[in-house]
Amino acid sequence: MHIELDAPNLGEIEKEYLSKVIDSGFVSTFGPFVSEFEEKFAGYLNATRAVSTQSGTAALHMALYEMGIGKGDEVIVPALTFVATVTPVMYVHARPVFADVEKDTWNIDPKEIEQCVSSRTRAIIPVHLYGNPCNMDAIMKIAGKYKLVVIEDATESLGAIYKGRYTGTIGDLGCFSFNGNKTITTGGGGMIIGSNEGSLEHIKFLVNQARDESKGYYHPEIGFNYRMTNLEAALGMAQMERLDIFSDKKRRFSEIYREELSNIPDVSFQGQYEGAASSWWLTCVTFGEKTDLPSLQKALREKGVPTRRVFMPVIEFPPFAADSSAFGNSREIYERGLCLPSSTLNSEEDIYYVCTTIKELVSQ
Ligand SMILES: Cc1ncc(COP(=O)(O)O)c(C=O)c1O
Repeated sequence: MHIELDAPNLGEIEKEYLSKVIDSGFVSTFGPFVSEFEEKFAGYLNATRAVSTQSGTAALHMALYEMGIGKGDEVIVPALTFVATVTPVMYVHARPVFADVEKDTWNIDPKEIEQCVSSRTRAIIPVHLYGNPCNMDAIMKIAGKYKLVVIEDATESLGAIYKGRYTGTIGDLGCFSFNGNKTITTGGGGMIIGSNEGSLEHIKFLVNQARDESKGYYHPEIGFNYRMTNLEAALGMAQMERLDIFSDKKRRFSEIYREELSNIPDVSFQGQYEGAASSWWLTCVTFGEKTDLPSLQKALREKGVPTRRVFMPVIEFPPFAADSSAFGNSREIYERGLCLPSSTLNSEEDIYYVCTTIKELVSQ
């Protein structure tokens, strides 16, 4: 038995498509896979247009840039997220303003968002943490009231649904990541989706060095080299063919974890909103005071069960330092939370073994 936390699931289709790219010689931006992947991705999510990028971080950077967010502007972000939600705010010289998350869903708390709004606020970046959709109704209402842009950090939530719509399609722009540990991977890569054709067309131009190809090597604006390669897009196309299987598997794993562990008083699961269906990119739980997390993690590792601590709140890092007592829920979830094996390489038996092992180690 070999249990994986978040390892990618790559197989024969991926090899076949990569071979096609190698045989064609078009390993960089040219070649058919990039536009095919963008179209397939947009079609899957029912989005008007998708533009591929080199990473989820680059997607978030381009989304902020395209929305004209810059110096003097404030962007509201959750304190509990991966650092790459926040670094793009710095790239455009805006100021991140941190909001605490809800204890139950682990997602940005709309009440906290409203308290963070100032005359300088321009945007909100809700993060669907570990695949769990945010309270988008409340967030869009606040955005409407104060005329704010909403850029969804859907990097972890491909396939998650909020009230009949895929996450990433609800705000002005949605950003995705295809890093090796995500539900589908291109090795490294990202995507921006949205409904404003003009904006997405402009992002496509920006990520390609702002090159006006009709005039050869002519660059009327400052651009970026954020292009996805044909090699990466070939992987993306292969992975899209298997996305439904991956999503079903992750959902099933999360059901098994709930069935097996939810009656342990010391274990709590990430809660979902009414009408929300998480993609369960990673199933994560918090343990109560009776469990010493580092010891549990070590004991699990010794029994072949890899786990990962929940993200350290971004306000703990020197560039963003803030008084952590104002972010009690983020801090508590970090201190008590563990991500459980969720790779689609695992079998259901593997997940049952993880549950049995946790039950042996955690006091009930
Ligand atoms: C919440 C969050 N935001 C942003 C990113 C950045 O994505 P990437 O690693 O593709 O740059 C990630 C993933 O790594 C993430 O988990």
